[in-house]
Amino acid sequence: MDIPKHIAIIMDGNGRWAVKRSLSRIAGHKEGIKTVEEIIKASNEIGITVLTLYAFSTENWARPLAEVKGLFSLLKFFLRKKIKEFQKNNIKLKTIGNISKLPADVVKEIKSAIKITSENTGLIVNIALNYGGRQEIIEAINKILESGIKNIDEKNFEKYIYTAGLPDPDLIIRTSGEYRISNFLMWQSAYSEFYTTNILWPDFKKKDLLDAISEYNRRNRRFGGLEHVK
Ligand code: IPE
Ligand code: IPE
Ligand code: MG
Repeated sequence: MDIPKHIAIIMDGNGRWAVKRSLSRIAGHKEGIKTVEEIIKASNEIGITVLTLYAFSTENWARPLAEVKGLFSLLKFFLRKKIKEFQKNNIKLKTIGNISKLPADVVKEIKSAIKITSENTGLIVNIALNYGGRQEIIEAINKILESGIKNIDEKNFEKYIYTAGLPDPDLIIRTSGEYRISNFLMWQSAYSEFYTTNILWPDFKKKDLLDAISEYNRRNRRFGGLEHVK
């Protein structure tokens, strides 16, 4: 079985999971964190190199303030809780997106976790926070303009985006039955395999990740050519 190097997940459906049970949306996000824990553990066992998790988009600011605050506070407690386990399992934390707009205490927790895990050489858990694909491209263009560079090619452009140094996602999974990219990894997804499932994120299990990887193995990636590229 060909294990994708980089899997990126649009973790969607927490709200609907909660509403179905007459619970608050935040209760759905809490349950979603349990899935995050299971999928990180599974990705580590399977031998994936990078796991990117879409946790908060640049558009998610449009939600009620209480939900936004709740999401960030869940993130803070998640990082605090997981740091020991990350260390034990050689997991390195990374983020993509403009985290400077997040609450100061959350930024502090993120920076601390990144620093503590910075020497780890195993699975990279890459959390997309206040991430937007369009914002990423615009920020890159502005950095390039500021540097005075007059000409740029694809390879050099990639040095200016959040994912610099990471491989493009081989497989992008979206849960909850939606068929859209929602501003996720617009540049990087040019040749990613897209997999959607109706399963809501809190119900997504290791078995479902393995199903997605099996389906990925049945795809023929041709990158514009005629041969299946391994
Ligand atoms: C989680 O699912 C995604 C986040 C933005 C954290 P949602 O909160 O979008 O759940 P649905 O789509 O309303 O069900
Ligand atoms: C995408 O989910 C963003 C994250 C998973 C963080 P949304 O629920 O925000 O996407 P839309 O609004 O349905 O496209
Ligand atoms: Mg959603």
